[in-house]
Amino acid sequence: MSPRPAALLRRIFDRFAPRKAPPRLVGRLTLHRDQIGKPIPPHLYGLFFEDINGAADGGLYAELVENRSFAYFPIHGVRGEGTALSPKTAWETVGRGKRECRFDIAILDPVDERSPNYAVLRASGGPGSFGIANRGYRGGMRVEAGAPYDFSAFIRSGSAMSVAPTVALEGPDGQILARETLAAVSSAWEKREAVLIPRRSESRARLVVTLDIGDAFHLAHVSLFPRETFHGRRNGLRKDLAQAIADLKPRFLRFPGGCIVHGDGLANAYRWKDSVGPIESRRPNWNRWGYHQTYGLGFFEYFQFCEDIGCEPMPILPAGVSCGFSKPFQAVGDEALEAWIQDCVDLVAFANGPASSGWGAVRAAMGHPEPFGLKLLGVGNEEHDTPAFRKRFPKFVERLRRECPGIEIIGTSGLGPEAPLADLMAQTGVSYTDEHYYMEPAWFVENHRRFDGAKREGPKVYVGEYASRGNAMENAVAEAVYLTGLERNSDLVAMHSYAPLLAHYDFCQWKHANLIWFDDGRVVTTPNYHVQRLFASHLGETWVPHDWNLPPRADGRETVVGVSSTYSAREGALFLKFANPQASPVDIEVDIRGGGATTAAATRTLLAGPPEATNDLAAPNRVAPVEEPFQAGPSFSLEIPPCSVVLLRIPSKSPEIR
Ligand code: AHR
Repeated sequence: MSPRPAALLRRIFDRFAPRKAPPRLVGRLTLHRDQIGKPIPPHLYGLFFEDINGAADGGLYAELVENRSFAYFPIHGVRGEGTALSPKTAWETVGRGKRECRFDIAILDPVDERSPNYAVLRASGGPGSFGIANRGYRGGMRVEAGAPYDFSAFIRSGSAMSVAPTVALEGPDGQILARETLAAVSSAWEKREAVLIPRRSESRARLVVTLDIGDAFHLAHVSLFPRETFHGRRNGLRKDLAQAIADLKPRFLRFPGGCIVHGDGLANAYRWKDSVGPIESRRPNWNRWGYHQTYGLGFFEYFQFCEDIGCEPMPILPAGVSCGFSKPFQAVGDEALEAWIQDCVDLVAFANGPASSGWGAVRAAMGHPEPFGLKLLGVGNEEHDTPAFRKRFPKFVERLRRECPGIEIIGTSGLGPEAPLADLMAQTGVSYTDEHYYMEPAWFVENHRRFDGAKREGPKVYVGEYASRGNAMENAVAEAVYLTGLERNSDLVAMHSYAPLLAHYDFCQWKHANLIWFDDGRVVTTPNYHVQRLFASHLGETWVPHDWNLPPRADGRETVVGVSSTYSAREGALFLKFANPQASPVDIEVDIRGGGATTAAATRTLLAGPPEATNDLAAPNRVAPVEEPFQAGPSFSLEIPPCSVVLLRIPSKSPEIR
């Protein structure tokens, strides 16, 4: 049956009539600059660092030789990828002319008992040279033409005859990029050093150590570092990655984790004393994420990095219980627990003791006679709520309070937004309780008021690990909304850190979301990174009280747009942050009451993009903040585009506070 004429006309009209735009959302923000605002804690924005996804060994730690100490634990392959590791991983034999190399691992007479493995290399066959080559992390070393690389190794002859091995950088085609012959060594271990300067750049170089004259030699702790490291440190950090971290302007750095703190069983826990002293004396460990930790980036290097980037160190030590996610779950017995508590006390001595004291002397011998000024110390990471943990944790707190009164203790409230151990933290009276959650973006938007009505007594909150399971714009905006809530509640939430920080594109165990991605030569910052950087570098010293009105949704629920207003007397600037997770733009009418606002040189920084937009190696700046001049004043309006974050920086004098 054909439609009636009126209905037909209506359909034609509907089709061709201009569409009525949906009404625009208008929000009103009234700032009360004449009211006293809460102080913003100076350490609100910080970073979480863990050796996961190749973050330290093969990542930030600039060492180019993989498995430099022939110490890879044979029992642990890379999680999920089934790669069997062994003390020979990353090494291969080299035989030239008619010679071949027999390669064995020994431990009988090591450089240091704490890292006892070494390579025993013996020649067979006719004349020629023999030795071994290291292919570096992920199949090749990236070296730059003309740049110096510092080689070192412990070497000794394997016979009565002195030997003088040759060290070279070679391209995949076997072409020599750089070569030096080392001074002769006899049958006692000696450290030998050389500088290699490649004549051309190569992304797949290998380090080759060979012997022409002689039949046997031993090698241990073979190292190759670019001379150019962050702040020019020896045993230092990859410059580009360290700079990307520094650019986030963190006020603290949490290290070394994460789950590697408590480890896969007690034997795998990160014991900080294993990570200090000369690198050949550090006791390596397998990594809870399925690879190997040299501990070359150890506690001294972490403290030094904090100093170099101007942030507070926040070490986290194990609480005598192993990771609750790994079977078997283990807890230290009562007697042995004392040693684990002593580790905490000794770490404070290492960081803060005078150079003349026991642990202070260890620090001084490593090149830092001045104390590091440690103030924050975490005990436990995201422990499960078990009687074993509840019994042990208070003992750490009691002793640290007694012996290290200047230290603020960070305890853990467990995994998830339910914070199952928060009651224990309140009972023990720690300074901060550390909560962790990895949730969907919608959770971060819906829970931006999580702390609005929370009680203010008891420990302050440290949101020590969080992420919205993705590195696209929608994740970054959701996290920005949540951050406006944290800034608003920063009288309670004193610190937070996104996690994880780093991930190698070709070696990643935590695939959902990481703040910075990298490969052997490139660094890609995510939309989430841009949010952290924008927010952390525009944090005032006081909160500016405001009223914020936005019409609710049709179902009566809040239309969420994150808003934060802070003022920095130091910078003479007002910072307004907006995060719009909505699919439509929002117009904002801003009214600044109580004086102080000026129009001079205000800027607007916009981070916007489709919800699914992300950055990658092909387009590392697809999503990036754009700054432009902005006309502000006592009252003005602006549009916040859909799925965007906007930061206004308005130069402004301190207002008269009544
Ligand atoms: O950030 C990755 C992991 O997530 C951390 O190691 C752990 O604390 C959390 O479960």
